[in-house]
Amino acid sequence: MRLACHRLEGRVALVTGASRGIGRAIALAFAREGAKVIVNYNRERGRAEEVVKLIRDGGGEAMCIQADVGDRGMVEKMVEEALREFKGLDILVNNAGVLMGGGTLLEFRDEEFDPMWRVNVKGILNCSRAVAPHMMEKRYGRIINISSVAGLGTAILPGNMLYAATKAAVIILTKRLALELGPYGINVNAIAPGFISTEMGLGQWRPAELEERLSYFREKTMLRRVGGPEDIAGVALFLASEEARFITGQTITVDGGRIDFISHSL
Ligand SMILES: NC(=O)c1ccc[n+]([C@@H]2O[C@H](COP(=O)([O-])OP(=O)(O)OC[C@H]3O[C@@H](n4cnc5c(N)ncnc54)[C@H](OP(=O)(O)O)[C@@H]3O)[C@@H](O)[C@H]2O)c1
Repeated sequence: MRLACHRLEGRVALVTGASRGIGRAIALAFAREGAKVIVNYNRERGRAEEVVKLIRDGGGEAMCIQADVGDRGMVEKMVEEALREFKGLDILVNNAGVLMGGGTLLEFRDEEFDPMWRVNVKGILNCSRAVAPHMMEKRYGRIINISSVAGLGTAILPGNMLYAATKAAVIILTKRLALELGPYGINVNAIAPGFISTEMGLGQWRPAELEERLSYFREKTMLRRVGGPEDIAGVALFLASEEARFITGQTITVDGGRIDFISHSL
């Protein structure tokens, strides 16, 4: 009996937006399970390098590559470099995302909506189509998209209508990509996180209102706490592992059991 457990041994994973937050936790969790990890970032080179250092110090293999996921040319170059360096690519986690501005129908500004669409939706398309030919040829692949409970239509936070629209698009893209890529042995799933304490999550409020907002979320959550990046990383790891081989086209809600929208989850 083999006691050591390296669920992603021999796999190569590309995690977008892995310089901090949820992406960072996923990159570290995958590396702990034996995957070689490409840590993508857009602006925060120093923090991406820290993630790579942590992995290498722990005996793993990793490299960071800068690319704006909204830029198709940059994404293609990133995937070419990853394939050249690590001789394969088995897992793609489309995690990079932005949350901007807000407002109602009459208030919203194109300068806020367009970048969200570009990163949260086109970013997933750019990365998925760059890795798909390789995965199709190998007849193996895992694509994991990070949506949000906002995209389920249940988390009606004032002002996040347009962010919610981009995250709903992620859910339908997950189903359609699963349909298209399933015959090639590629599983495509999504995770819909609830509130997670990261710079994006916490950055929505002024410091003065933070404690009040966190208590609100704790109270509305069956498990009576807010989520951390590792809560999402554990589910991403499961979806990337062999245990999830017969799951595709699904969106898994990971929100600690939100009492305020339990009756509306997918
Ligand atoms: N936190 C939450 O409560 C929550 C809830 C539901 C869903 N989500 C989703 O979970 C994902 C991660 O969120 P988070 O909370 O970890 O956010 P975060 O702390 O703001 O981190 C975002 C990451 O995305 C990267 N990124 C942003 N724009 C990029 C681009 N154009 N190209 C490549 N990378 C880019 C950032 O890299 P640089 O810093 O290098 O630019 C950073 O690593 C997002 O898709 C988000 O929508 C979050």
